[in-house]
Amino acid sequence: MNNFVFYSPTEFVFGKATEMQVGALARKHGAQKVMIVYGGGSVVRSGLLDRVKQSLQEAGVGFCEMGGVQPNPVDTKVYEGIDFCRTQQADMMLAVGGGSVIDTAKAIAAGVVYDGDFWDFYIGKAKVTKALKVGVVLTIPAAGSEGSGNTVITKVDTLQKLSLRVPEVLRPVFAVMNPELTYTLPPFQTACGIADMMVHIMERYFTNTEDVEIADRVCEGTLTAIIKEAYRVKQDPNNYGARANIMWCGTIAHNGTCGVGCEEDWASHFLEHEVSAIYNVTHGAGLTVITPAWMTFMASHNPRKIAQFANRVFGVPETEDLEEMALTGISRLKHFFRYMGLPVTFKELGIENPDIDRLVDSLHRNKGELVGNYVKLTREYSKEIYQLAL
Ligand code: NZQ
Ligand code: ZN
Repeated sequence: MNNFVFYSPTEFVFGKATEMQVGALARKHGAQKVMIVYGGGSVVRSGLLDRVKQSLQEAGVGFCEMGGVQPNPVDTKVYEGIDFCRTQQADMMLAVGGGSVIDTAKAIAAGVVYDGDFWDFYIGKAKVTKALKVGVVLTIPAAGSEGSGNTVITKVDTLQKLSLRVPEVLRPVFAVMNPELTYTLPPFQTACGIADMMVHIMERYFTNTEDVEIADRVCEGTLTAIIKEAYRVKQDPNNYGARANIMWCGTIAHNGTCGVGCEEDWASHFLEHEVSAIYNVTHGAGLTVITPAWMTFMASHNPRKIAQFANRVFGVPETEDLEEMALTGISRLKHFFRYMGLPVTFKELGIENPDIDRLVDSLHRNKGELVGNYVKLTREYSKEIYQLAL
């Protein structure tokens, strides 16, 4: 097991009606005036935004608001938010939504107290050392941004989708999680969220680090639980227990718990970020196309952990032939994704002829000549993986 620092100070407030505590939480964490950030309107239609405002009013916390954050959030909205936050003199960001909203709120939180261009942080030109506090009311379990120190933003001009990871500054100070808020999710978004959290675990699980038995078992147990709850929620979308377990899985998957002591991989995410940047597809659906292709490549290059995954998560019997075990596991994983209504090829994702050379070029320009860790991907390997996803 590698040395590690695990620092996860987010206060999670979980359960029915918890959004009514948001005012008290903002106040407790020192807010005088919060800037509410939300997306395309689901929180308006569901009445959640009104309940959040009511709770803030009852706690005597002022607020201003900016809606209109789109999925695969963009830099232009962050600039707008920074200007607005400065004009309004808000002292805390309150994200009401999913990963796109939370990531935008984090970018504004860092950008508003920085004299330069916030994009400097994403291209490694400057380090985030301070930011406004970020609070969250989560409406979709998926990206895990409510418990992570990450934010992912796309630059409109160049279509660069880049992630920034600063857990010591950008982790939300609190996250309100009411599973009932997720009843209104369309089945496709529920499924994409489930896929995203599964891959967050797998990025950590597919490691060459030895002696990580606890991390392995936490990953396998959480993956098994997600799959079980996914079947339940597909049958019965208003099943509170299933929604609650899925919501908490999304946090566990990405707050660092699953990867302690491991060298993590993240190549599937980086390969996917190019796809969602260029073709604007839903991140979770991009992952169900890319990850099985990445695993298929690994089945012949480094099958050990893929075979273990096949055995312990999908019940594939142990044999001497690790590659064959791995391939059987991948086929079961794809079957599960298809059952959830998710694509497993570019074509099913709606991209008939992806420009693979462009994807490869952009990936290696953004992430360097070698990508990932489980097997370090050269340009040639990345191209092979994109081709396996056709
Ligand atoms: O915009 P509204 O109208 O709110 O609709 C949203 C959006 O269309 C809808 N939605 C959310 N909650 C809902 C709802 N619809 C009905 N009822 C509800 N309760 O769902 C759609 C997707 O929302 P979005 O926030 O984009 O989803 P998600 O949480 O999957 O976030 C995706 C973004 O996060 C990034 C992704 O790349 C993508 O840009 N990621 C962020 C990470 C992080 N910060 O740690 C890690 C991830 O790997 C990921 O890369
Ligand atoms: Zn993800």
